[in-house]
Amino acid sequence: MKGLILSGGKGTRLRPLTFTQAKQLVPVANKPVLFYGIEALHEAGIRDIGIIVGDTKDEIRDAVGDGSRWGISVTYIEQDEPLGLAHAVKIARDFLQDTPFVMYLGDNILKSGITSLVQEFEEEKPNSLILLTEVPNPHMFGVAELEDGRVVNLVEKPKDPPSNLALVGVYMFDNNIFEAIDAIEPSWRNELEITDAIQYLVKNGYEVRSHMVTGWWKDTGKIEDILDANRLILETLTQKIEGDVDADSRTNGPVVIEKGASVTNSIIRGPAIIGKNTQIQDSYIGPFTSIQKDCLVCQTEIEHSIVLEGSEIREVGSRIDESLIGRGVKIFKCPPKPSVYRFIVGDQSEIGIK
Ligand code: G1P
Repeated sequence: MKGLILSGGKGTRLRPLTFTQAKQLVPVANKPVLFYGIEALHEAGIRDIGIIVGDTKDEIRDAVGDGSRWGISVTYIEQDEPLGLAHAVKIARDFLQDTPFVMYLGDNILKSGITSLVQEFEEEKPNSLILLTEVPNPHMFGVAELEDGRVVNLVEKPKDPPSNLALVGVYMFDNNIFEAIDAIEPSWRNELEITDAIQYLVKNGYEVRSHMVTGWWKDTGKIEDILDANRLILETLTQKIEGDVDADSRTNGPVVIEKGASVTNSIIRGPAIIGKNTQIQDSYIGPFTSIQKDCLVCQTEIEHSIVLEGSEIREVGSRIDESLIGRGVKIFKCPPKPSVYRFIVGDQSEIGIK
């Protein structure tokens, strides 16, 4: 089987981060979201992976390279405009040929991986295999309707959802999907929807199998989802301390402190991860916090948050909670007089003060 990872799109729901960074490269537990997908495909035995890229193609190429780090071969396929998931499959035809493939949306993370599903698809050869999960807000997803466990109907982001079963962003197909994609029309949002192509397979007597996702699944399209995914991944962390923790500091629970990081006179309460060459001084780092490399956190308390590389946070008077702080950000205490807040904040940022 081959793999096809979709890593285009504009990531508008993740602004302001996506003004300067591809949404698939936003880190979760200090690792780009996209790498979780690559690793899931690799673990399932897939070595030949096509990555669909759009405006952020240079960044994605820089981060992933030729794939040799994972022992895979990567082919980049450019999608000039985000014309839909089915359009992405269509332009990947030369790469995919007639080989069955897994399509994986580059901003999805699945706890339980996909290895057993890929095995089932290879052995039993249905025409397609899709993953479903119950969600509270099905109108935001592709939705499936089942009858006696069989998929009978699929609709993309319906106003009036026929069930609460959302399509998860991992799909398996054989080459009949190309016939389906040729037969469908663009949707109201002018996209060729993969959901419509799968509906075509269902209606035309092809075998579309569905599985419920075991374990959690996250589509990291929104900031809250990134923080949630960060929490869920950190819950699986095992302790590894490679940096320096001085005698006046304490760590409890699973904590990762990467090489060159230093912790002085601070408490790190896991699960938490402190990136390479980051300095934590006179601070409290609470559970579910990921701090990337080259940061400085000084006289500050922070938990349930993500801080991206090269940021500095000093002497913030109250505990920082549920925050996502971008790259090279500076947050610091102003001089005592005049007593003011001073903001230099980029477009579409969000600041909460008490
Ligand atoms: C896409 C699909 C949708 C699916 C979702 C899963 O939605 O169109 O059917 O349920 O991914 O993440 P989008 O992220 O384009 O809104």
